[in-house]
Amino acid sequence: MNDLVPYFEHHESIDSTNARAAQLAATDIDLPALIVAEEQTAGRGRGSNAWWSDAGALTFSLLIDASPDQLAQATWPLVSLAAALAIGDCLAARLPVERVELKWPNDVYLNGRKVCGILVEAPPVRPPRLVVGVGLNVNNSMVEAPDEIAERATSLVDAVGQPLDREEILREIVVRFLDNLARLQAGELQLAERWSERCLLRGREIEVQAHGTLQRGCCAGIDDAGALILETSQGRKRLFAGTVNRW
Ligand code: BTN
Repeated sequence: MNDLVPYFEHHESIDSTNARAAQLAATDIDLPALIVAEEQTAGRGRGSNAWWSDAGALTFSLLIDASPDQLAQATWPLVSLAAALAIGDCLAARLPVERVELKWPNDVYLNGRKVCGILVEAPPVRPPRLVVGVGLNVNNSMVEAPDEIAERATSLVDAVGQPLDREEILREIVVRFLDNLARLQAGELQLAERWSERCLLRGREIEVQAHGTLQRGCCAGIDDAGALILETSQGRKRLFAGTVNRW
């Protein structure tokens, strides 16, 4: 991996690759840094959720330089969308599957089931850095997963029926993501257009928990600022954060 990133760690077992990346954020290592783990004992999900994953999953975090000359602060909310795009594009290019879709703000779905979660965190350090954590179900079959996860999730091995090379997939995701980040900083990532190719929610009646209220409407995709566009009975709304509960 050192041909892709200047700093790389591989762990057989660790509490959380995001927590490890946040520790490293306070040091002066060269970036981007890639932390990969075979197992996490305290994997973190969005909000207060834990992240469950089994042996065979691809579990990693990238620590990136978010100094103003590298990644303007205005683009930080778009980093998770850029990561989801990279992962969606990688899976669509490699797998003989029907549907690879992105669920705003940052989940990747395969044939209607969640296959990947992304958690971006900003550790309180100077110069600023971002941690981009990815949990992608690759060779971990959902047959082994707890019921509540197996009902809604899938893995690449479940979708294509044979194990895949995780290192190859990781390499392609890192390359695509770093390329998206460079485009984001250059103002060249056409987020709305690229996202619309894979938007799971577009054209659907959805319910979004946002800013402490439940918003209902028809999803018209996302815009270049990463906002979800919702056509509601009170007109068009732009949501910058939230959780889509029904679709
Ligand atoms: C979600 O809730 O969908 C986001 C899940 C993110 C999980 C990944 S696994 C690697 C990294 N380390 C963590 O503790 N969490 C992220």
